[in-house]
Amino acid sequence: MIDAIIYPGTFDPITNGHLDLIIRAARMCKRIVVAVAANYEKHPLFELDERVRLIQDSLQIVAGNYGNDAIIEVRCFDNLLVEFANSIGITTILRGLRAVSDFEYELQQASVNRVLDCKIETIFLMTSERYSYLSSSAVRSIARYHGCVEALVPPPVQQALMDKLGFE
Ligand code: COA
Repeated sequence: MIDAIIYPGTFDPITNGHLDLIIRAARMCKRIVVAVAANYEKHPLFELDERVRLIQDSLQIVAGNYGNDAIIEVRCFDNLLVEFANSIGITTILRGLRAVSDFEYELQQASVNRVLDCKIETIFLMTSERYSYLSSSAVRSIARYHGCVEALVPPPVQQALMDKLGFE
């Protein structure tokens, strides 16, 4: 029985694909910690505190869709994922699989995490088909070229992208 899961990512920024996964996971689990990795090596567009705030604001908009009383927390971390998971008492990691191409990378991550800590298990949800092509870098790229990201990200992210990129 899984009481709590940790959903890690860079979330630069959170997309509708990430949100869809969180909502579906919240119907299966009592507590979800969305763990925002600092991941400075990826040179994120949004600062860590901005990424956290955008997730919180986006979750507020979809709060009615959880379907149960799941508690969803947003935390940030800048150490090993397994260390952070242990520090908050969670042993199950959730990841999304968008396409076959994700499988190899996710298999490697899950294996490394299990080698680092044998108590840690990773579970996967298939991303909804309508978001299977979506990624944060695609969103950033479309926004940079003034493309419309309305269908791809929640409203707070849409606004934040315009502010960050200096568009009206
Ligand atoms: N919908 C939309 N996009 C999705 C998605 C979904 N359901 N699932 C994944 N993605 C996209 C992300 O937007 C991201 O896009 P981008 O690379 O184009 O910006 C991409 O898939 C990668 O996914 P993300 O979830 O951000 O993970 P990541 O690979 O950047 O980071 C961590 C994964 C944070 C879990 C990993 O780096 C980590 O554990 N870091 C801590 C250090 C550590 O413990 N290292 C050892 C583990 S091997």
